[in-house]
Amino acid sequence: MAEKWSPDGWKRKPIQQVPEYPDTAKLASVEDTLRTFPPLVFAGEARRLQASLARVAEGKAFLLQGGDCAESFAEFHANKIRDTFRVMLQMAVVLTFGAACPVVKVGRMAGQFAKPRSAPTETIDGVSLPSYRGDMINGMEFTPDSRIPDPERLVRAYNQSAATLNLLRAFAQGGYADLHKVHQWTLGFLAGSPQGERYQDLANRLDETLAFMEACGLTSETTPQIRETDLFTSHEALILQYEQALTRIDSTTGDWYDCSAHMLWVGDRTRQVDGAHVEFLRGVGNPLGFKAGPTTTPDDCLRLIDALNPSNIPGRMTVIVRMGADQVEAKLPPLIRAVRREGRSVVWACDPMHANTHTAGAYKTRSFDRILAEVRGFFAVHRAEGTHPGGVHFEMTGQNVTECIGGAQAITEARLGECYQTHCDPRLNANQALELAFLIAEMLKAERVEQRRKAAVGA
Ligand code: PEP
Ligand code: CO
Repeated sequence: MAEKWSPDGWKRKPIQQVPEYPDTAKLASVEDTLRTFPPLVFAGEARRLQASLARVAEGKAFLLQGGDCAESFAEFHANKIRDTFRVMLQMAVVLTFGAACPVVKVGRMAGQFAKPRSAPTETIDGVSLPSYRGDMINGMEFTPDSRIPDPERLVRAYNQSAATLNLLRAFAQGGYADLHKVHQWTLGFLAGSPQGERYQDLANRLDETLAFMEACGLTSETTPQIRETDLFTSHEALILQYEQALTRIDSTTGDWYDCSAHMLWVGDRTRQVDGAHVEFLRGVGNPLGFKAGPTTTPDDCLRLIDALNPSNIPGRMTVIVRMGADQVEAKLPPLIRAVRREGRSVVWACDPMHANTHTAGAYKTRSFDRILAEVRGFFAVHRAEGTHPGGVHFEMTGQNVTECIGGAQAITEARLGECYQTHCDPRLNANQALELAFLIAEMLKAERVEQRRKAAVGA
């Protein structure tokens, strides 16, 4: 039997990646303040996301999760939120068409402010300071003052998340997400892309489908599904004081929900099964994820699933696989086989970002080709195992940054400095992200054809 759970039970477990707050009284008072703030999301919405993810686990939908590596206070602007939302919509439409199934959209947005770090301190020219851990903890500037963890930043992160979510809800429901508009933006992208021709066929078919639907009376005016959409939020649950303060009892079910986001995940560095982060997450009703990196064994994977989803609730558990392009084909099959053997329901998602990072001069970067290679490897493994490649997880932005190399624009290492803005890891820019969506749509279509073939021969 699992031990009884309480929102602060994590404090009695070993914990990794904790910032050292010098002023603990101030931290306690900020936690009290956060506890009085309204929830950012409602439990019913988290349950709706879980139901959609259950469809993904069944092979009947696809998950698109994406957004910043780290949101920042300095980059907070309506246009940036709008542009990321817009690319997510464009990607989702292209993927829906390829997969011929619903795409569940989950942003790394409205709460993704804290970062695990490989070292607690950073040294530049012989000076050592605490590492930057994300804007909800300390400042990026390399000065002693800025690197001191400041609890007030938790309040600022909450407020920025509330404003971000408010805008996202307005965009999703207020007409901005209209399918016709999204399609027009994508046509604009194709006209300007050197690879545009390759994707024109899909775009033309989408054009015809929209015209056909209109002829049947399915227009923006008559059909809310054409005019509106859903975008859920998610982040890594790293700063547990923040997560705990936003954890509330849902009056409908009497269950605890972490109302800081719809979905939460535990990172590759904090996924110890007996550790504080897993302890916290196991008690909240939200859909959950964990990152599975190259050191994750089949046994780790099963133990985490047992801890986080002991009742095997479909849609509750997403395994976010980030093995690296070179390792995914060797390391993923044993995980899939173990999960299948134990009859566990999970969503398999591919994060092709976090194990494909390299340094080029002064910049951390990722290559489009390696990102694509990991996605292809992920799809190939699922095809061979007969399981559903459930989704993808990207670090991306709607801005035209130069942080990842490659893609049709052929960003070279020499050009990284032109517009390198990230506060943490390199993100795909809008064109790179959309180009990937077209390539993944082709893979999803091939999966669909294969399934039809199998059904036809009774395999
Ligand atoms: C992240 O998603 O930004 C991250 C730090 O990932 P991981 O835990 O997989 O390294
Ligand atoms: Co990252």
